[in-house]
Amino acid sequence: MLLEVQNLRVAYGNIEALHGISFTVDRGEIVTLIGANGAGKTSALYALARLPRPEAPLVTGGDILYDGQSILKTEPHALIQNRMLALVPEGRHIFGNLTVEENLKIAGFPRLKEANHAAVLAETAGLVYELFPRLYERRKQRGELLSGGEQQMLALGRALMTGSDFIMLDEPSMGLAPKLMYEMFRALKQLNYEKQITIFVVEQNARVALEFANRGYVLRSGKIIESGNSKDLARDPEVKRAYLGGQGT
Ligand SMILES: Nc1ncnc2c1ncn2[C@@H]1O[C@H](COP(=O)(O)OP(=O)(O)OP(=O)(O)O)[C@@H](O)[C@H]1O
Ligand SMILES: [Mg+2]
Repeated sequence: MLLEVQNLRVAYGNIEALHGISFTVDRGEIVTLIGANGAGKTSALYALARLPRPEAPLVTGGDILYDGQSILKTEPHALIQNRMLALVPEGRHIFGNLTVEENLKIAGFPRLKEANHAAVLAETAGLVYELFPRLYERRKQRGELLSGGEQQMLALGRALMTGSDFIMLDEPSMGLAPKLMYEMFRALKQLNYEKQITIFVVEQNARVALEFANRGYVLRSGKIIESGNSKDLARDPEVKRAYLGGQGT
């Protein structure tokens, strides 16, 4: 198993946001964690990425295994340096005053120690531009001048530049018009299929997420209440009622 989350608890101060959640992601899968506002999706991603951010919660219980080894004591930068995972955070986090090209280049910095890094980074940037030709057209443009959709593409591009084959995304559909949203998910699907990239995506948009993922988990108020393959989840009356705006039965 690539990732195995066991009974994970996280808290902000004395407020617990995740009350012991367990899930797995196997190599090559696309797995989604769906849930409404405040369910704890971002908290789960922050815990997984071990981000040393002030807004990140503390892990107060359980374990996170990566390839069978606990990463709870692993330095966050080591996760990136060793290309174990890359996070596309909510709100994109690109550098507004740098160009598209520069944003991609900087994201590849952890790989500068690799032999042949210039060729490797140029090749990855080529892949990003191939996935999103718009980014190629706008490669000299500053990040802040990109549209929301283009910024989201660039954020994914930056994750790819780290060379990780496991990418986690926080609500990639957020704020995107349907056409751009589908373009984003199409690109993710292509990366999964052609480049064997494993994808873990948290989404409020359950309909799209379940259409796109192989398997899913439903998070409600810090607990996982349902799991299964996406098709079954999408047919589940409770999921339909609460997350798909359907009638349920
Ligand atoms: N920095 C923080 N300090 C205190 N509480 C927080 C903090 N960040 C999140 N929380 C709380 O933790 C819970 C889970 O929040 P989280 O951001 O993980 O939810 P989410 O599923 O990502 O929601 P959204 O869909 O709105 O992004 C919420 O009750 C939230 O108020
Ligand atoms: Mg969130």
